[in-house]
Amino acid sequence: MGSLKHIPVAVAEVLEFLNPRPGKIVVDATIGAGGHTLAILPRLMPGGTLIGLDIDPKMVKLARENLMANGLWSESVKLFCESYTQLPGIIAGWCKEGADGVLIDAGVCTEQLFSPGRGFSFLHSDPLDARYNQTQNIPTAGEIVNKKSVAELADIFRRYGDEPHARRIARAIVAYREKKPIETTKELGEIVARAVGPLRRGKRRLHLETRVFQALRIAVNDELNRFNQGIRVALRSLAISGRLVVISYHSGEDRIVKNLFRSAERGELEEVVGKVYKVLTKKPITPTREEITRNPRARSAKLRAIERVK
Ligand SMILES: C[S@@+](CC[C@H](N)C(=O)[O-])C[C@H]1O[C@@H](n2cnc3c(N)ncnc32)[C@H](O)[C@@H]1O
Repeated sequence: MGSLKHIPVAVAEVLEFLNPRPGKIVVDATIGAGGHTLAILPRLMPGGTLIGLDIDPKMVKLARENLMANGLWSESVKLFCESYTQLPGIIAGWCKEGADGVLIDAGVCTEQLFSPGRGFSFLHSDPLDARYNQTQNIPTAGEIVNKKSVAELADIFRRYGDEPHARRIARAIVAYREKKPIETTKELGEIVARAVGPLRRGKRRLHLETRVFQALRIAVNDELNRFNQGIRVALRSLAISGRLVVISYHSGEDRIVKNLFRSAERGELEEVVGKVYKVLTKKPITPTREEITRNPRARSAKLRAIERVK
């Protein structure tokens, strides 16, 4: 039976901006463990539909289990193991006019981070994988750290992890693998910690290694390109009065949301020519101190919302 380790971020704000009501069709485009869906789904009843997507087949299974465990599994829920970049094709069968709401909660779930065998963090000694969908034939984190040059690795750590010691870490990785390939997440965590030295201990060390693993995950899954494409197709998939809510956890992601929302509002986005949008959040909504205490993962979250007006 499913259990919910993952605490969903900004549930009250998601409900406020998504505004789920009876009879409406809402897409949870990153259903994960189903945390947001558990809050959204009852508000769509009677008569509504929740379409849930996740690129990770294990999360689709877990979301189904969590919905069942909470008595919310019914014909009104449609789950697909698909990337949100496929959104228009998936929803076409359910809503010709578009969706009333779409939620994209980017990044990784606690279940993925803490499950052994995934390679998303240094907390287990796992093979360096970090693919959301482990059946997908794409280069893993192991292939990246064992093959890329110092310059390429440093660019990944800087760009996707905002890591200030990117080059030093990249050099240490390349020096280490001259002796033997880097095989496990623990091994990589230790190389990173040693590279930055005794200055970084405790919490700082945790953040440091977390940033490197985040960067590798984003690179492995080509996350920023997918995210950019996903927001464009989500905007295109909204019905009139439909709303898109996006939660991001990294400066590069938030920049993409801000710029695409602004372009949509100004009528400058090719994909949605002729449609009219209004940004509902002039500034991103960030978590309260209380939410961060309850859920440290919310620390870097930024929520933005937009409505299709015409
Ligand atoms: C932060 S979690 C979502 C958590 C969820 N909102 C909840 O409350 O349980 C993000 C999820 O997005 C999924 N994901 C990442 N890239 C995706 C993509 N391109 N399309 C669909 N899902 C994706 C991940 O597998 C992960 O399960």
